[in-house]
Amino acid sequence: MSDTTEPGGYFVANYPPFSKWTDAAVPAVLAAMDALPSHEPLGLYLHIPFCRKRCKFCYFRVYTDTSAADVERYSQALAREAEIAAAHRAIAGRPLRYVYFGGGTPSFLSVKQLERLVVGLHRSFGWSGPNDGGGAEEVTFECEPGTLSEPKVRALKSMGMTRISLGVENFDDAILEANGRAHLSAEIQRSWDWIKAAGFPSTNVDLIAGMVGETFESWQRTVARTLDLESDSVTIYQMELPFNTVFVHDAQETGESAPVADWQTKREWVNWAFDRFLERGYSISSGYTLVRDPSNVHFRYRDMLWAGADLLALGVASFGHLSGVHYQNATHWNDYLQAVEAGRLPVQRGLRPTSRELLIREIVLGLKRGVLDTGRLQLKFGIDPLVEWAAQWRGLAVDGCLEQIHPWPVLTRRGLLMVDSLLPRFFDEAGPEAIK
Ligand SMILES: C[S@@+](CC[C@H](N)C(=O)[O-])C[C@H]1O[C@@H](n2cnc3c(N)ncnc32)[C@H](O)[C@@H]1O
Ligand code: SF4
Repeated sequence: MSDTTEPGGYFVANYPPFSKWTDAAVPAVLAAMDALPSHEPLGLYLHIPFCRKRCKFCYFRVYTDTSAADVERYSQALAREAEIAAAHRAIAGRPLRYVYFGGGTPSFLSVKQLERLVVGLHRSFGWSGPNDGGGAEEVTFECEPGTLSEPKVRALKSMGMTRISLGVENFDDAILEANGRAHLSAEIQRSWDWIKAAGFPSTNVDLIAGMVGETFESWQRTVARTLDLESDSVTIYQMELPFNTVFVHDAQETGESAPVADWQTKREWVNWAFDRFLERGYSISSGYTLVRDPSNVHFRYRDMLWAGADLLALGVASFGHLSGVHYQNATHWNDYLQAVEAGRLPVQRGLRPTSRELLIREIVLGLKRGVLDTGRLQLKFGIDPLVEWAAQWRGLAVDGCLEQIHPWPVLTRRGLLMVDSLLPRFFDEAGPEAIK
């Protein structure tokens, strides 16, 4: 693989890959909805697809310039979809163990819209925060700094959000602007003060290493400013350039590619940042995440989902997983709204993976944490990953990416920082050339 940041996806979000999901599997998804539930924990993901501006690097399904009436219609549809889904046998009466408001930008919604949405969700699921005597152990809410106000932050706390994740990305105004972010650094500090004052159980800051215009000096300043925020966790993504981004479209038109640092440089920058956070007492929790106090910070959404939990996905283009079946909702606005408003689940495509594929999924997602509990996987799937993928483990060791194989595999820092590029070695369709 070239070291240049070429257009194309890098991040491994799921297995088997989305390209294998088809509309032929929709009946299997609906059958899973109508069948008895699995024994896995159940979580909820809500996709809020609105943003003030489309960042030039972003590949998510987002809408900008949406009318107030359309935003209102969509938030009502989400509550309606929750009601439709909660009436199905695989969901009815089950407690929600985790909830995730993602996007897009959940904080784009007004306090009134959010309150109505949360009331609607409560009618369907009756989840409550951990401080209200049980219910969801974690309710994450993603925010873009410029969409927050002090009353909105306080309202989020009283609605039961337990984990606030702020999309900071960078502290340099020129870099934020060059990458099409809607916020500037002053809004980061202002919103952070409100978040701190509200006293959420957990706070997270997102950064991207390698934004257009980034230098090692500017990255050092961004890391220093982030350290000062003292968030409970920090997530550092390495900039990738998927095809459906403004940067790639612009490059196709002008013939000049977006000047994003190469992968080796981005890894060095993340490595440098990891060391600064470790010096401040943080510990590494995955290839992208550092946590301040591991005994206090738990990522229910990440850890349960990566270990095979059910995930009910609401919203346009949302990805879910139920009773071992993958699915995605309608990816277009009209298709999504028409289905929900007619009282139907808006499922568009899916895939029923084989047991072996589910095992590969848990291996690749689990490896992102840097340590794989192969004993648990052997008990669950009846296959020992250390034996079945012995050649891959040896290859990783030879490449300096594995610290130990036994009793369970542990990645080196080098392996952790390039983990997404290593994962296809475990894919069935990768072929023998991937087994290095
Ligand atoms: C849904 S957004 C977070 C909430 C809000 N929309 C925002 O951006 O502030 C999720 C995160 O994905 C990351 N991200 C998006 N596009 C990316 C890309 N091309 N490369 C790396 N990270 C990316 C950003 O760090 C962003 O904060
Ligand atoms: S990175 Fe966040 S704010 Fe930017 S377009 Fe994507 S979802 Fe919207």
